[in-house]
Amino acid sequence: MVDRNGWDRDASESTGPTYTPPESFVEQANVADPGIHDEFGAEWPDCWERAAALLSWEEAYDTVLEDEDAPFYRWFANGRLNASYNCLDRHLESGRKNHAAIRWEGKQGERRTYTYRDLYVEVNEFAAALRERGVEEDDVVTIYLPMIPELPIAMLACARIGAPHSVVFAGLSADALATRMDAADSEYLVTCDGYYRRGDAFNQKSKADNARIDLEQDVRTVVVDRLGDDLPHVLGENEWDYHALREEFAGETVEPVSRDAEDMLFLMYTSGTTGEPKGVVHSTGGYLAHVAWTSHAVLDVKPADTYWCAADIGWITGHSYIVYGPLALGTTTVMYEGTPDYPDRDRLWEIVDRNAVDVFYTAPTAIRAFMKWGSDYPARHDLSSLRLLGTVGEPISPRPWKWYREHIGGGECPVVDTWWQTETGAVTISTLPGIDDMKPGSAGPPLPGIDARIVDEAGEDVDAGETGYLTIGRPWPGMARTLYDNDERFVAEYWQRFSDPAEDDWRYFSGDTARIDDHGYITVLGRVDDVITVSGHRLGTMEVEHAIADVDGVAEAAVVGRSSETGDTEIYAYVSTERGYESDAAIRQAILDNIESAIGPIARPAAVIFTPELPKTRSGKIMRRLLEDVANGEELGDTSALRNPEIVGEIQAEIGTDG
Ligand code: WTA
Repeated sequence: MVDRNGWDRDASESTGPTYTPPESFVEQANVADPGIHDEFGAEWPDCWERAAALLSWEEAYDTVLEDEDAPFYRWFANGRLNASYNCLDRHLESGRKNHAAIRWEGKQGERRTYTYRDLYVEVNEFAAALRERGVEEDDVVTIYLPMIPELPIAMLACARIGAPHSVVFAGLSADALATRMDAADSEYLVTCDGYYRRGDAFNQKSKADNARIDLEQDVRTVVVDRLGDDLPHVLGENEWDYHALREEFAGETVEPVSRDAEDMLFLMYTSGTTGEPKGVVHSTGGYLAHVAWTSHAVLDVKPADTYWCAADIGWITGHSYIVYGPLALGTTTVMYEGTPDYPDRDRLWEIVDRNAVDVFYTAPTAIRAFMKWGSDYPARHDLSSLRLLGTVGEPISPRPWKWYREHIGGGECPVVDTWWQTETGAVTISTLPGIDDMKPGSAGPPLPGIDARIVDEAGEDVDAGETGYLTIGRPWPGMARTLYDNDERFVAEYWQRFSDPAEDDWRYFSGDTARIDDHGYITVLGRVDDVITVSGHRLGTMEVEHAIADVDGVAEAAVVGRSSETGDTEIYAYVSTERGYESDAAIRQAILDNIESAIGPIARPAAVIFTPELPKTRSGKIMRRLLEDVANGEELGDTSALRNPEIVGEIQAEIGTDG
């Protein structure tokens, strides 16, 4: 049985077969010395100098880790560097100027290649334009772009002038954009006229305009013309066309601003337990060192590789492993704008084949779709260039893991199942592909230098095989430094639960549950908080519930994750209406529309179930667990704590899970 986290409970993860990395891989692996696990353990925190050494520092740091003000740690204290310099200039200086940096594959079949020099030129021109139009060091620039090259260009331009970027996923709504710009006091926006969705021109600019109406601050906006004549648009006051700016600033260069290792590189909003999204703050030095190191050690990226992370740059995976990690290492990173099934279900394999991709990194939800479509699609192409495969974002059960290795990896490629989060910045649990055996269904041991522990309520390590909370005992370089403008919430969300401040004993809580086996391999089970992952997008149930409760006539709503037949998570919304309102198609449509406008189409529920009441405890707490079990057709436990147990049977009858 596949549960709501996509986890196949019947598969035995620690007794199943293990896979040893093939000799051909080990021989060429970036990290192949098994001693690294012990070495990092013994030399912590200095072990992380191995990561810092992958960067070019303008001024050397004087301390690896400063922990006086825990949990506000400082890594590589007093070192100075610039992220854009590390991703661009230094590769030009080392003779790689005409090496491909980005190979972009557009949705309509367009292709563009940027060499490191091309990217350097365009980033400089845009950095000059931003600065001239008023952006100063430490101003937050919001970027609301789909997967077009101007997205990483804008990020690097911001990094160059020391302005933190806040990228908002292009599929999020105007309201979501406004909330994030408001929270970050952001006065600059980079967006586009629109983009293509299933062949149609989709208007992004009008969403940006609507967001601006809601904001108190004046917003200066740069608009990239993605659609040309397909969607003509008029620019207003304080709005500039990206391409016109490039002409205006053609050939200009900007000295990369010297940033302290602890200066903010970017902000990334993510979902949490309350309705309000959290602005996760990432540093310049520690973050860049950690993403470069894990690109090197876990994804085995080499400068000569063509590497492809098929994620969206609007989320952390794309920041770390499409932009910063691969570019810091000077490799070729593929960037794909489209979907895996357009124009046909072999689109990704056609791209791998044509670009001779060496390393491919995607999410379990995509792999489950490939598996469902069948192995004929990958079989149409030559995938023999692939050397390593990776997954991220959710647990992957053994069956899709094996399918991936077999049908995409030719039965040879190691597969790294990488566990990490927006807040960890970079990979923290994974096998090292040149060293560790793989166990399908288990992410693997903590990376060298990462002190991941599975603990019980009291914070004590659980025995092998027992389920507990996934925590990290020691800090690591890529970790979030705080939540934007909200140090208290940072401590409350991540540190309070398992730390003992009186003893200066700090432990990070991930919000995930997990098990550990006899070999120290960790199997992540899912979230304990009210977060649902839908196709790789992390959504807070509260955000969705608020959007529903906003609709006239809705009394109450509860939202849960349901595992579909394919193992993907979908949203079920339970709604009770106010007296005098019919539970009809009109209100259902109003709910769907409001979710779309408050969050975006990604949060659309698979089902809206009307019920006269939501099941509640005697103290009035909605029993979401129970609703989740009902949605998943699972056995219900004891319902005696409910004030209204009869309602459960009614809901089951309504959705047909009453057996
Ligand atoms: C889940 C994405 C199991 C987990 C990088 C985590 C995983 C959340 C894995 C973070 C994995 C990520 N196995 N679960 N390999 N990777 N997760 O912030 O629940 O979008 O807490 O970062 O995704 O999601 P986020």
